[in-house]
Amino acid sequence: MQDRIMDVSKRRGIAYPSFEIYRGVSGFVDYGPIGSRIKQNIEDLLRRHYVIGEGCFEVQCPTLSPEEVWVASGHVDSFADLMVECNRCHECYRADKLLEEVGVEAEGKPAEEVDALLKERGITCPECKGGFGEPYEYNLMFQTTIGTGKGKRTGYLRPETAQSTYLGFRRLWEYARRKLPFGAIQIGHSFRNEISPRQGMIRLREFNQAEIQFFMDPDDKSAPRFGEVADRKVRITDKDDNVLEMTIGEACERGVIRIPFLAYQLGKALRVFEDMGLDPKRLQLRQHREDERAFYSSDTWDVEFASDSFGRIELVGIADRTDYDLGQHMKHSGEDMKVSLEGRKFIPHVMEVAYGIDRPFYCVLESCFREDDDRTYFSFPKKIAPYTVGVYSLVKKDGVPEKTEEVFGKVREAGFFTFIDHSGSIGKRYARADEIGVPYCITVDYETLEDDSVTVRDRDSKKQDRVLIGELIEYLR
Ligand code: GAP
Repeated sequence: MQDRIMDVSKRRGIAYPSFEIYRGVSGFVDYGPIGSRIKQNIEDLLRRHYVIGEGCFEVQCPTLSPEEVWVASGHVDSFADLMVECNRCHECYRADKLLEEVGVEAEGKPAEEVDALLKERGITCPECKGGFGEPYEYNLMFQTTIGTGKGKRTGYLRPETAQSTYLGFRRLWEYARRKLPFGAIQIGHSFRNEISPRQGMIRLREFNQAEIQFFMDPDDKSAPRFGEVADRKVRITDKDDNVLEMTIGEACERGVIRIPFLAYQLGKALRVFEDMGLDPKRLQLRQHREDERAFYSSDTWDVEFASDSFGRIELVGIADRTDYDLGQHMKHSGEDMKVSLEGRKFIPHVMEVAYGIDRPFYCVLESCFREDDDRTYFSFPKKIAPYTVGVYSLVKKDGVPEKTEEVFGKVREAGFFTFIDHSGSIGKRYARADEIGVPYCITVDYETLEDDSVTVRDRDSKKQDRVLIGELIEYLR
């Protein structure tokens, strides 16, 4: 499946490996002209859900920050994976991923335990079958220098957008008119020097995130809009690996999901992914085990997608980060992160909803990919499709192309993402549009010159309607 999707993806300008002319570097991807439109639509969908739907503020901060930030956040000390190096060919691997391939969960386990598991299972280098040295901690941040000469400082590319949002907390608190809760969303690039990434768009070294930080009163993690998600039934794997099937409401009542706000955000994320076009039956919730949870979190849940190509993929992580991050930045910078509210002084807690963009992007491709007897197409939801409509002339003579240009101008002026295509048979042009998931095609023909009507073809049903040009914009809307 992945091969067929990536074949269309490379040929049709969706996404392809970066630096191809220099033999490529794994962990980087280019979004082509079609992929950039789809990615933008995914980001806009998140904006609709969180900036409009939840009233979050959007911020944009630098991707590069001085070392102090990452010392305070704990990333310099603890943002590491266990790596093993082959004694023979010197290829490096993430130790827990090697174990995962033979069905052993080892993420977050101590080095000695992982070493023992590797030995017990007789795991050798996938490249040359050589033995491994002992696993050791490998920090995933890209280090660089900021400035020159006396002012030179060590800096790091951010491994998450979250920290830069926290740094501006005092300004956001004032902007929120000193009230809690409020949320801040940041959409942008993050960087991790992942150990030998081999999973295409799923594990990248430069990737896109949309992370929302909800600043909350520690005594109030309620969810006033819980009713909107309470009835959603979902498969849940809890921290002790129990697999349960229940509604979000029941999970909260039975204490499976402890914090109502977290439960609400999980339900909301399921909705967001369905809105993107992901198959609801392939979405599930998973709570992190105690030994796997990140150092900053007291409770973390993921929404996962069951991919045909990659197995279970984490798409968003939702975590109760407590007062850890603001507390750390207060300690290290000296800036007071406490707020005064109703006679109490405290550091707000952060509930984080951390979406990746690239993984959902791939899962949208996988969920929407269709192969019929005579065609391959993506059945993207309209709000995700790269273009709404293509405009075609049936013939290249007798004034039909000119009329086509006129129709194209109207559609473009109405603000639709559209393109015009005069070349090749109409069947081939429909096939090209289907392959990139364009929901509608308009064809201008001889009849148009007589009665000002055009054919509108629906991508999924292939059904064709005859629509008057005067009513076309309303029809498309
Ligand atoms: N601020 C919290 C945080 O970064 P995370 O679970 O490490 O949490 C959040 O990352 C999301 O970012 C993941 O659910 C995933 O979608 C995406 N992500 C993380 N690492 C990635 C990588 N190497 N390549 C692509 N996406 C990644």
